[in-house]
Amino acid sequence: MSPSSLPATKFKNPRAKYNFQGRTCSISGVGSYVPRKVLTNADLERMVDTSDEWITTRTGIKERRLAAQDEFTSDLAAGAARKAMKMAGVTAEQIDLIIVATITPDMLFPSTACLLQRLIGARRAAAFDIEAACSGFIYALEIAQQFIMSRTYDNVLVVGADKLSSIVNWRDRNTCVLFGDGAGAALLQNRPHSHGLLTAVMGADGNKSDLLFMPGGGSRCPATAQSVASGLHFLCMEGKETFKNAVQAMLTAAQEAMRRCEIDIDRIKCIIPHQANLRIIQAVGERLGAKPDQLFVNVHKYGNTSAASVAIALDEAVASGRIQRGDLILLIVFGAGLTWGAAVIEW
Ligand code: ACO
Repeated sequence: MSPSSLPATKFKNPRAKYNFQGRTCSISGVGSYVPRKVLTNADLERMVDTSDEWITTRTGIKERRLAAQDEFTSDLAAGAARKAMKMAGVTAEQIDLIIVATITPDMLFPSTACLLQRLIGARRAAAFDIEAACSGFIYALEIAQQFIMSRTYDNVLVVGADKLSSIVNWRDRNTCVLFGDGAGAALLQNRPHSHGLLTAVMGADGNKSDLLFMPGGGSRCPATAQSVASGLHFLCMEGKETFKNAVQAMLTAAQEAMRRCEIDIDRIKCIIPHQANLRIIQAVGERLGAKPDQLFVNVHKYGNTSAASVAIALDEAVASGRIQRGDLILLIVFGAGLTWGAAVIEW
């Protein structure tokens, strides 16, 4: 299929003029998985000096899911991946490549993607992880689409998965109320006559890496009895500055993605922002001129699940019928790094 055989549209496909291979990249299947255990705001009131009222008004979060002690990021990823494969009608044997976006890999190496490959039996697949914190799912989608459009691979599995409960300090009320565990997956293929992933904006600013980080566990600060006693293996965050940067970066990325496709916000059927905080979602939505019913929100159920966040939301939006074939959707992400991104997809 040549790009000129794609259906005429009222939006621009920014990739069409470079698409000499005549392929596009579509999401054929989505899936998500969250652990069974629910941690409510009332539970947190018994753990730290906080209140349901504070958490709800500052973040919109009511509860989050926690993985069991013997349930790891690769297990969460496998739960989501199996559903995405089923929806796409793709067997494990058919998968060419697995990309897992995570900041909480089962271990530093091997990659969680390799562990996932074993769990689902995708023995033909190449596998690697990427790390762009909460922006990881869009970064991974954009990497995956290069392999599909270049005809290198036909079936690419992209998973955002995080077990943030493993790096949260459960005595720090500033952070522990915000995060949860989960995974979301997408199976990407060339779907003839569909534009699919129209564009993805990716950005980063390493000068702001100290706003959100985990000091211990890497080559800079390997684990010692002292580093563990000092709590260096927990996530650290400057909440207020992160908030401000998130709103600005998400807004700019979303505007750039829509500009590339020559569309305005009214053309978007469903906006799926990173689910970190309801106030961030509303601030970005307002500045984009979006109507409240365009925004997909599930932060009240899961808190911030990092790389899994927009992937879980995408799966729930599809399952609930909010998105139909041919609709334009806008994903917007932001995370540690700092990193950010936005993608416009013809569903
Ligand atoms: N319960 C009760 N009080 C609390 C809690 C809590 N859980 N946490 C903080 N407080 C207190 C603070 O100590 C502070 O008290 P003080 O005034 O006596 O010092 C007070 O509440 C106000 O704190 P603020 O920082 O002003 O609260 P703010 O309105 O900024 O909300 C929040 C804090 C929710 C953390 C917000 O800043 C936020 O959401 N920031 C962005 C976080 C985020 O999205 N991070 C993830 C990025 S993506 C990734 O890659 C993981």
